[in-house]
Amino acid sequence: MAENITIDSGVTKAEQYEQLLPQIQSLVGDETDEQALLASTAAALHHGFGFFWTGFYRVIENELVLGAFQGPVACMRIAYGRGVCGTAWKEGQSIIVPDVDQFPGHISCNSASRSEIVVPLKDKNSEVRAILDVDSNQLNAFDTTDQQYLEQIANWLSQKLF
Ligand code: SME
Repeated sequence: MAENITIDSGVTKAEQYEQLLPQIQSLVGDETDEQALLASTAAALHHGFGFFWTGFYRVIENELVLGAFQGPVACMRIAYGRGVCGTAWKEGQSIIVPDVDQFPGHISCNSASRSEIVVPLKDKNSEVRAILDVDSNQLNAFDTTDQQYLEQIANWLSQKLF
Protein backbone atom coordinates (compact mmCIF):
# COMPACT_ATOMS: atom_id res chain seq x y z
CA MET A 1 0.00 0.00 0.00
CA ALA A 2 1.28 3.47 -0.90
CA GLU A 3 2.02 5.44 2.26
CA ASN A 4 1.12 8.81 0.77
CA ILE A 5 -1.10 10.03 -2.01
CA THR A 6 0.94 12.30 -4.29
CA ILE A 7 -0.24 14.56 -7.10
CA ASP A 8 2.05 16.74 -9.21
CA SER A 9 1.46 20.47 -9.06
CA GLY A 10 1.90 22.34 -12.34
CA VAL A 11 -0.22 19.94 -14.37
CA THR A 12 -3.86 20.33 -15.34
CA LYS A 13 -6.65 19.41 -12.95
CA ALA A 14 -7.63 16.55 -15.26
CA GLU A 15 -4.07 15.21 -15.12
CA GLN A 16 -4.15 15.50 -11.33
CA TYR A 17 -7.31 13.39 -11.19
CA GLU A 18 -5.74 10.93 -13.67
CA GLN A 19 -2.80 10.58 -11.26
CA LEU A 20 -5.04 10.22 -8.23
CA LEU A 21 -7.49 7.60 -9.52
CA PRO A 22 -5.04 4.67 -9.80
CA GLN A 23 -3.59 5.58 -6.40
CA ILE A 24 -7.03 5.36 -4.79
CA GLN A 25 -7.70 2.07 -6.57
CA SER A 26 -4.35 0.69 -5.46
CA LEU A 27 -4.93 1.95 -1.91
CA VAL A 28 -8.26 0.17 -1.48
CA GLY A 29 -7.35 -2.97 -3.42
CA ASP A 30 -10.19 -5.49 -3.15
CA GLU A 31 -11.59 -4.03 0.08
CA THR A 32 -15.38 -4.21 0.18
CA ASP A 33 -16.21 -2.70 3.59
CA GLU A 34 -18.25 0.50 3.18
CA GLN A 35 -16.60 2.42 6.01
CA ALA A 36 -13.10 1.50 4.87
CA LEU A 37 -13.80 2.44 1.24
CA LEU A 38 -15.53 5.75 1.93
CA ALA A 39 -13.01 6.81 4.59
CA SER A 40 -10.01 5.98 2.40
CA THR A 41 -11.50 7.74 -0.64
CA ALA A 42 -12.34 10.85 1.40
CA ALA A 43 -8.81 10.97 2.81
CA ALA A 44 -7.14 10.43 -0.57
CA LEU A 45 -9.21 13.15 -2.29
CA HIS A 46 -8.92 15.57 0.60
CA HIS A 47 -5.19 15.35 1.08
CA GLY A 48 -4.44 14.85 -2.62
CA PHE A 49 -6.15 18.08 -3.61
CA GLY A 50 -6.08 20.06 -0.35
CA PHE A 51 -9.85 20.58 -0.26
CA PHE A 52 -11.47 22.32 2.72
CA TRP A 53 -13.93 19.49 3.48
CA THR A 54 -14.39 16.14 1.79
CA GLY A 55 -16.87 13.52 2.87
CA PHE A 56 -19.91 11.34 2.44
CA TYR A 57 -23.49 11.53 3.65
CA ARG A 58 -25.38 8.22 3.63
CA VAL A 59 -29.10 7.82 2.95
CA ILE A 60 -30.54 6.31 6.13
CA GLU A 61 -34.34 6.07 6.14
CA ASN A 62 -35.55 9.58 5.25
CA GLU A 63 -32.40 11.57 5.98
CA LEU A 64 -28.79 12.01 4.94
CA VAL A 65 -26.51 11.07 7.84
CA LEU A 66 -22.88 12.12 8.05
CA GLY A 67 -20.39 9.39 7.21
CA ALA A 68 -16.64 9.26 6.66
CA PHE A 69 -15.12 12.69 6.14
CA GLN A 70 -11.99 14.80 6.37
CA GLY A 71 -12.02 18.42 7.53
CA PRO A 72 -13.81 20.42 10.22
CA VAL A 73 -16.87 19.09 12.05
CA ALA A 74 -20.03 19.29 9.93
CA CYS A 75 -23.81 18.95 10.10
CA MET A 76 -24.76 15.40 10.99
CA ARG A 77 -28.23 15.11 9.44
CA ILE A 78 -29.73 16.69 6.32
CA ALA A 79 -33.36 16.26 5.27
CA TYR A 80 -34.47 15.15 1.79
CA GLY A 81 -34.55 18.16 -0.53
CA ARG A 82 -32.69 20.42 1.92
CA GLY A 83 -29.44 22.21 1.16
CA VAL A 84 -27.16 21.25 -1.69
CA CYS A 85 -26.81 17.63 -0.54
CA GLY A 86 -30.53 17.07 0.00
CA THR A 87 -31.27 18.66 -3.38
CA ALA A 88 -28.75 16.40 -5.15
CA TRP A 89 -30.43 13.42 -3.45
CA LYS A 90 -33.89 14.58 -4.58
CA GLU A 91 -32.78 15.34 -8.15
CA GLY A 92 -30.45 12.35 -8.43
CA GLN A 93 -27.72 14.41 -10.02
CA SER A 94 -24.53 16.29 -9.29
CA ILE A 95 -24.63 19.97 -8.36
CA ILE A 96 -21.81 22.51 -8.68
CA VAL A 97 -22.22 25.57 -6.43
CA PRO A 98 -19.76 28.33 -7.43
CA ASP A 99 -20.82 30.57 -4.51
CA VAL A 100 -22.63 29.01 -1.56
CA ASP A 101 -24.21 32.36 -0.66
CA GLN A 102 -26.08 32.27 -3.98
CA PHE A 103 -27.59 28.79 -3.47
CA PRO A 104 -31.05 29.14 -1.89
CA GLY A 105 -31.24 26.96 1.21
CA HIS A 106 -27.52 26.18 1.34
CA ILE A 107 -26.70 24.63 4.71
CA SER A 108 -23.64 26.31 6.15
CA CYS A 109 -21.69 23.86 8.30
CA ASN A 110 -18.65 26.16 8.36
CA SER A 111 -18.50 29.83 7.42
CA ALA A 112 -15.15 29.31 5.66
CA SER A 113 -16.75 27.13 2.98
CA ARG A 114 -17.29 29.26 -0.15
CA SER A 115 -18.04 26.81 -2.98
CA GLU A 116 -18.89 23.13 -3.27
CA ILE A 117 -19.72 20.19 -5.47
CA VAL A 118 -21.93 17.27 -4.56
CA VAL A 119 -22.20 13.98 -6.43
CA PRO A 120 -24.72 11.19 -5.74
CA LEU A 121 -23.77 7.50 -5.39
CA LYS A 122 -26.54 5.34 -6.83
CA ASP A 123 -27.35 1.66 -6.55
CA LYS A 124 -28.20 -0.69 -9.42
CA ASN A 125 -31.83 0.52 -9.32
CA SER A 126 -30.64 4.13 -9.72
CA GLU A 127 -31.62 4.92 -6.12
CA VAL A 128 -29.35 7.45 -4.39
CA ARG A 129 -27.58 5.70 -1.50
CA ALA A 130 -24.99 8.31 -0.52
CA ILE A 131 -23.72 11.76 -1.42
CA LEU A 132 -20.09 12.78 -1.96
CA ASP A 133 -19.67 16.41 -0.85
CA VAL A 134 -16.49 18.41 -1.49
CA ASP A 135 -16.11 21.99 -0.19
CA SER A 136 -13.54 24.67 -0.92
CA ASN A 137 -12.66 27.82 1.00
CA GLN A 138 -12.31 29.56 -2.40
CA LEU A 139 -15.15 30.79 -4.59
CA ASN A 140 -15.75 28.99 -7.88
CA ALA A 141 -13.36 26.14 -7.11
CA PHE A 142 -15.20 23.39 -8.99
CA ASP A 143 -16.05 22.90 -12.65
CA THR A 144 -17.16 20.18 -15.04
CA THR A 145 -13.72 18.55 -14.86
CA ASP A 146 -14.24 17.97 -11.13
CA GLN A 147 -17.75 16.75 -11.87
CA GLN A 148 -16.56 14.28 -14.51
CA TYR A 149 -13.86 12.74 -12.32
CA LEU A 150 -15.80 12.82 -9.04
CA GLU A 151 -18.70 11.09 -10.83
CA GLN A 152 -16.22 8.48 -12.06
CA ILE A 153 -15.08 7.92 -8.46
CA ALA A 154 -18.67 7.87 -7.19
CA ASN A 155 -19.70 5.33 -9.84
CA TRP A 156 -16.70 3.14 -9.06
CA LEU A 157 -17.59 3.20 -5.34
CA SER A 158 -21.27 2.54 -6.07
CA GLN A 159 -20.44 -0.52 -8.16
CA LYS A 160 -18.38 -1.92 -5.29
CA LEU A 161 -20.86 -1.08 -2.53
CA PHE A 162 -24.41 -0.99 -3.84
N1 SME B 1 -23.38 22.64 2.47
C1 SME B 1 -24.05 21.37 2.47
C2 SME B 1 -24.05 20.75 3.84
C3 SME B 1 -22.92 19.84 4.09
S1 SME B 1 -21.48 20.60 4.40
O1 SME B 1 -21.09 21.52 3.36
C4 SME B 1 -20.26 19.58 4.81
C5 SME B 1 -25.46 21.51 1.95
O2 SME B 1 -25.96 22.63 1.77
O3 SME B 1 -26.09 20.48 1.74
